[in-house]
Amino acid sequence: MFISGQPPASGMPEISSRYDGLGVGFAPYLQPPGPEVVRWTVGEPGFDAPTEVIEATIKGLEDGNTKYTRGAGSMELCQAVSDYLARHHGIDVGMDDVVITPGAKQALLYSFMIATMPGDEAILLAPSWASYEPMLSLIGAVPVNVPVRKDNFHPDIDAIAAAVTERTRMILINSPCNPTGAVFTPDEMQAIVDIAIEHDLWIVSDEIYARLVWTDYPHTSPSTLSGGKERTLIVNGWSKSWAMTGMRLGFLAGPPDAMRAAVKTQANSASHVPTFMMHAAAVALDCDDSVEEFNREYLKRRDIMIGGLEEMSGLRVIEPEGAFYVFVDVTGTGMSDIEFADGALEAGVQLIPTSLITGGEGFVRISYATDEEAIHEGLRRLRAWLVD
Ligand SMILES: Cc1ncc(COP(=O)(O)O)c(C=O)c1O
Repeated sequence: MFISGQPPASGMPEISSRYDGLGVGFAPYLQPPGPEVVRWTVGEPGFDAPTEVIEATIKGLEDGNTKYTRGAGSMELCQAVSDYLARHHGIDVGMDDVVITPGAKQALLYSFMIATMPGDEAILLAPSWASYEPMLSLIGAVPVNVPVRKDNFHPDIDAIAAAVTERTRMILINSPCNPTGAVFTPDEMQAIVDIAIEHDLWIVSDEIYARLVWTDYPHTSPSTLSGGKERTLIVNGWSKSWAMTGMRLGFLAGPPDAMRAAVKTQANSASHVPTFMMHAAAVALDCDDSVEEFNREYLKRRDIMIGGLEEMSGLRVIEPEGAFYVFVDVTGTGMSDIEFADGALEAGVQLIPTSLITGGEGFVRISYATDEEAIHEGLRRLRAWLVD
């Protein structure tokens, strides 16, 4: 019996139902195993952040940059992002239309809040990064998964067009893609923009892997295409190409009204990113040498990984075009992806079975952002398990 003024027997009030069944991405498979296990799981660069960034961070603290400041990020940093986007991706956004966020994740959350109301539908291209679906569900939007093409993981344009309903408000794209490694062509991007124009939809473009492109065509942001600028919310950040995951820095850029909404969202939640990090983030954007050096290493590691996996019968590897993942079809081994991941873990290699996400059944995701020795050792262990 509940006696007024006293908590119920559990001692805790009820938690709101928005958390019922909410996923946490790949988290169950990202737990660090024992030190003897080789980890091919974490989507995190095996490098340290550039020295210039570390020095600028320390200087930021020493200079006393520890107080509240401009919510969207310092003028210097927003201008640096605007210049960076123009220089590397041909994107035209002014510094007033950039909001610096605590990681790309927060920028994604703001963009979903800007594009949808509860009950509205958001098109995802499946399989997609494990956090998108729970994040949309958290704010009451309805994820609608449209499978990508089986042969190359590129978008199926007709299927996207067919999935649009009265309730659709946005299409989420992530090129280069985690987990598949696909890099969409400029024509595919334009076709998606055309669908968005026809149905008056937002495009949320997660471009966090935009510098990690191994194709002979470049990364194309939908905001650079005809009719794309006024409906694209660009999400990006420092975690991947500058190896700054723990510094929690990302950004959102897009049309002025949408960015005003983003500033309001941030003002009522995070306020801003740490003040002493802002100059360091601007410094990072000029560290092209580090980005290029990391990329040379990733390419080398990618080739070692693909070469090793292709030698093992039962595994089908579609060459990844970008990011630092290989998406491997394991159905030829006769095992489910969960059985394969469990067996690999017993053999001493941790990887992610992607039936945890919609459209990922029969595949495992391998990250080659790890160091070269861990790739060689993991391949030796898989070979001993599968082949010998
Ligand atoms: C596709 C994708 N988007 C966004 C993020 C989040 O990046 P951040 O560390 O900037 O929040 C990740 C990280 O794994 C990712 O893979």
